[in-house]
Amino acid sequence: MNDTKGLYYSDYLELDKILNSQHPKSSMKTDELLFIIIHQTYELWFKQVIHEVDAVREIFASKKVNDNAGEMSLALHKLKRVVKIFEVLIQQISILETMTSMDFLEFRNLLQPSSGFQSLQFRIIEAKLGLKMEHRYKAEYYKNIRPGGFNAGDYESITNVEKEATLKELIVKWAERTPFFDESLWAEYQNLYTLEKDEQKFWSDYKQIYANSLSKAEQNQLEALDKVFYKEGSGDFSKNAMRAVLFIMMYRNLPIFHLPFDLLTTLIDIDELFSQWRYKHMLMTRRMIGMRVGTGGTSGAGYLEGALRQHYIFKELNEVTTFLIERSKLPDLPNAVKEKMSFNSK
Ligand code: HEM
Repeated sequence: MNDTKGLYYSDYLELDKILNSQHPKSSMKTDELLFIIIHQTYELWFKQVIHEVDAVREIFASKKVNDNAGEMSLALHKLKRVVKIFEVLIQQISILETMTSMDFLEFRNLLQPSSGFQSLQFRIIEAKLGLKMEHRYKAEYYKNIRPGGFNAGDYESITNVEKEATLKELIVKWAERTPFFDESLWAEYQNLYTLEKDEQKFWSDYKQIYANSLSKAEQNQLEALDKVFYKEGSGDFSKNAMRAVLFIMMYRNLPIFHLPFDLLTTLIDIDELFSQWRYKHMLMTRRMIGMRVGTGGTSGAGYLEGALRQHYIFKELNEVTTFLIERSKLPDLPNAVKEKMSFNSK
């Protein structure tokens, strides 16, 4: 018996609750315990991901994300933790794959109409990163109108989260605040090509440099460049946000751009790992239930394929690569830009 006054391991972790929360619907001879434990493990990691994403959103919600004060590194550190968690989440699928489809069939019918589709935390992660209901594949599946959909409370929770600023929206605002193109910083810049009327000096040159980098077959990309960086922007990213992202990606080797570049690539990593999870889960589903419909009542593997195709969050960041140029063709930056710029100092 423990009669010391100090904290006790199992009390601190509340193991009595956690370890008594596995209640298979079938007899204990099936693999249902594994099925329950793996889902519970996912949900615990989802909780941690939400915690990290909230902390990052809080940092970016501030008007000034100061590199020097370490906020940017803190945000990055948290996002890199999310990356590591996702790597584990992907890996974990292979534990479940040790269950054969016939073993699954032993208890599968007892689970209907519930399904991982109803994981509120999974939907909250998607929503906090920036996936909106209207952009979801088969958005009607989410409404509480069919068995396997969300209950009214969970549906409301998802729609409430959607009303908060998403990480994506905050990143767009952060990118828009970057002061790279303040005219005062470009006074000493000498244009390489004729300066276009009403155009910022750098962007006036960029169009020409990019045009020169295109092969004959790629000429139609010029129109896309014009649309994305000179007129409308792309998706949720305004023209100015896209300009900032391209600029950071091009001048990534300059010390002042190291953290911002790392931030952008980490967001792309998270998107990529999320899709890898979707892909691996879809393959496992195919292997496990073939072309049967899901317990949650969707078309099963067909639905998962649609979600995989459509649920990218930071797709605009990947798009920027289309508009990069050869490193050797990058214009030299004026000293004022190189030396005086500190992030989001406006
Ligand atoms: C035997 C293993 C599994 C099978 C056969 C399976 C099958 C499915 C199917 C068919 C769907 C589509 C919805 C439906 O109609 O049911 C789905 C969705 C989903 N499942 Fe699983 N699943 C398995 C394990 C897991 C595990 C371990 C997790 C971890 C949390 C999970 C999380 C999800 C999530 C989050 C969705 C929604 C995905 C999206 O909308 O992109 N599933 N699953």
